[in-house]
Amino acid sequence: MSKRARAKPSAPATPPAALPAAPVKPARQKTFLLVAGLALLLLVIVASLFIATREDATPPTSPASIAPLAASEQPPPLPSPAAAPVAASYVGASRCQSCHESEFKAWSGSHHQLAMQDATAATVLGDFADVSFNYQGVASTFFKSADGQFMVRTDGPDGKLSDYPISYTFGVYPLQQYLIAFPGGRYQTLPIAWDARPKSEGGQRWFHLYPDQKIDHTDALHWTGIY
Ligand code: HEC
Repeated sequence: MSKRARAKPSAPATPPAALPAAPVKPARQKTFLLVAGLALLLLVIVASLFIATREDATPPTSPASIAPLAASEQPPPLPSPAAAPVAASYVGASRCQSCHESEFKAWSGSHHQLAMQDATAATVLGDFADVSFNYQGVASTFFKSADGQFMVRTDGPDGKLSDYPISYTFGVYPLQQYLIAFPGGRYQTLPIAWDARPKSEGGQRWFHLYPDQKIDHTDALHWTGIY
């Protein structure tokens, strides 16, 4: 009985009829008993042969040592497109400095370094002290929220005035633009920009990028659109 139990998982040649037949033992049909008996005998022979082979075998072929070998023979799994990608994250420029010292020095303070920054009191150049700007009948307001967030009240996709927090600054000189987060991971650029030049050169003021066109929310070029 114990031999049968041990042989069972590795004896696929066993006729399927033998398994249900053995425990049932219907005494009525002689033929059935005969077939079942023969099947049992065959099972015992196969089991004995299997155990004998196993005992003769040298240690490396035991299942325990085969398993890791077989696994290492398989090619490494290819990244499947269905697998969830590992989210990339920004490591920061300081991670590059140790190997690229001269490049880091040349880049630091350059317009490239300052091209896109979080909108903070240190990076925002525009006047957000409740300043109004008129463009083709729309009065936009630049202000700061109670918690210090830089905001603009301007015409949204429906043409109505809405409040938008400024996420990023874009550029430093001669103008600075502002990026606003929209649904779907988009950042839309406000069409009203800050002239960063000194006052003596006509700067330090808000201006619209298309001053002579009337671009409203129905226009493909409206700032909330895809262009
Ligand atoms: C551990 C050292 C190391 C770090 C850290 C490192 N790099 Fe590099 N990087 C190298 C080496 C080495 C080269 C090859 C230079 C060569 O072929 O002349 C290289 C080349 C480059 C190049 C190509 C330059 C060219 O002329 O084609 C760029 C761009 C670059 N690195 C950017 C970065 C950035 C950005 C970071 C930080 C996010 C970074 N590296 C961090 C060592 C490093």
